[in-house]
Amino acid sequence: MQELADKRNDYNDGRLEKSDVSSTPFEQFERWMRNALDKVSLDPTAFSLATADDQGRPSVRIVLLKGAANDRFTFFTNYNSRKAQDIAANPQAAMLFFWPELQRQIRISGPLAKVPRPESEEYFDSRPYESRIGAIASRQSAVLENRELLESRMDQLKQRHAEDSKVPLPEHWGGYRITALEYEFWQGRASRLHDRWRFRRTAVTSSDWQLDRLFP
Ligand SMILES: Cc1cc2nc3c(=O)[nH]c(=O)nc-3n(C[C@H](O)[C@H](O)[C@H](O)COP(=O)(O)O)c2cc1C
Repeated sequence: MQELADKRNDYNDGRLEKSDVSSTPFEQFERWMRNALDKVSLDPTAFSLATADDQGRPSVRIVLLKGAANDRFTFFTNYNSRKAQDIAANPQAAMLFFWPELQRQIRISGPLAKVPRPESEEYFDSRPYESRIGAIASRQSAVLENRELLESRMDQLKQRHAEDSKVPLPEHWGGYRITALEYEFWQGRASRLHDRWRFRRTAVTSSDWQLDRLFP
């Protein structure tokens, strides 16, 4: 595929000087996320979530950010999925947002843990009926013999839980919360001379962030 090497995109729209960077990384995140919510048309809250198993083998997939406050970032998923197995063995994750329209990327990493069940339940109850039934029906990341099996599980569950009844939060579903130890804000610049600012702290209890500019 020769066209891969020939494909080029220049980044000229913005810059990120030290004087533009907020004093805390979470404020900087909020600023860029609010801008993305305004300007990015499709799924601005979607991020790549990287995990690794107990052998250090990485895996990555997209999930949706459902909460962010005080350096903590929440997403919801199936607690038996591949990512959940990775997290059980190695409770560390990295997140990546890439917003091409804004020529920006944000990396965040740190330890993560399950969110308290009442919070998962509150979010679960807010989801559309089909999504709640789907969360019960799906044995996420297990082998599915055929599509009909999934559809018949959905039909059975819909008979058991009517649309106007309370659909119970299944044991195998809920949230995880990542606590940031490191952030990096990347703004594309011309000639690949991008601006990169990294915030790091040594412990999740520390509010002492070190800010460094990185080579592009
Ligand atoms: C735009 C988009 C949003 C997604 N959001 C979620 C999500 O919030 N939670 C989730 O479990 N999977 C979500 N997925 C599916 C995951 O990418 C993935 O297929 C699934 O979680 C299984 O991953 P695993 O086998 O690594 O556990 C989303 C996929 C896309 C493309």
